[in-house]
Amino acid sequence: MNLLIMGPPGAGKGTQAEVLVKEMNITHISTGDMFRAAIKEGTEMGKKAKEYMDKGALVPDEVVIGMVKERLSQPDCQKGFLLDGFPRTVEQAAALDATLQEMGIKLDGVINIEVPLEKLMARLTGRRVCKGCGASYHVIFNPPKEEGQCNSCSGELYQRSDDNEESVGTRLNAYIEKTQPLIDYYAAKGILKPINGDQEIGKVLEDILAAVK
Ligand code: AP5
Ligand code: ZN
Repeated sequence: MNLLIMGPPGAGKGTQAEVLVKEMNITHISTGDMFRAAIKEGTEMGKKAKEYMDKGALVPDEVVIGMVKERLSQPDCQKGFLLDGFPRTVEQAAALDATLQEMGIKLDGVINIEVPLEKLMARLTGRRVCKGCGASYHVIFNPPKEEGQCNSCSGELYQRSDDNEESVGTRLNAYIEKTQPLIDYYAAKGILKPINGDQEIGKVLEDILAAVK
């Protein structure tokens, strides 16, 4: 099954994706995670992306599109995939359509996690991420069992450099301007699955599984 997970920054895309890909045995493709890995490795693309990401701005379309195209051609995507954080602009959505058409595959569903925008600032500024496996926690809503330590891999938890009030504000504006129009784009294709993301994490997962199965 080929799926896409959408929603504003902090909606819970990464939290849900981590479990969903295991449940469904499909490959997780997160453009945000790919950029963070490139930054860690110190590649040219990573250096370029970091300038945009720290501010909360979108990385230019041509950089993201090229990276995703290459990723989709890898063998582990053949069993199905979950795209997370891509597409984020109408141009990216059109490029994805063209790529999938070339590959002779289609999207089976677009999960759209809905959360009132005023709740996102608290979710993002309280988020802590595992250095080892990338799992997301929250100091209040989803605390780890041991403070500062990941439940699954015991990795150290850190705060993302774009999870400060200023960058989150810019990310929310980028979402409203550039990404929100994609909701209508996928609704028109008849594959949009709206999910209430303003409920307990386990309940959100249940609703997603019911919508895609
Ligand atoms: P990216 O990494 O994709 O960030 P994002 O879209 O801002 O999404 P987040 O990872 O912040 O949120 P999430 O929805 O995954 O939330 P999470 O599950 O962690 O992108 C980062 C940057 O990279 C962009 O700003 C851009 O610069 C660049 N980029 C990436 N892709 C790009 C593209 N396609 N084009 C251009 N640029 C691109 O949850 C958030 C918090 O809430 C956590 O603390 C979690 O524990 C908590 N939480 C989750 N669910 C619940 C719940 N149900 N109730 C209470 N708390 C919850
Ligand atoms: Zn971990």
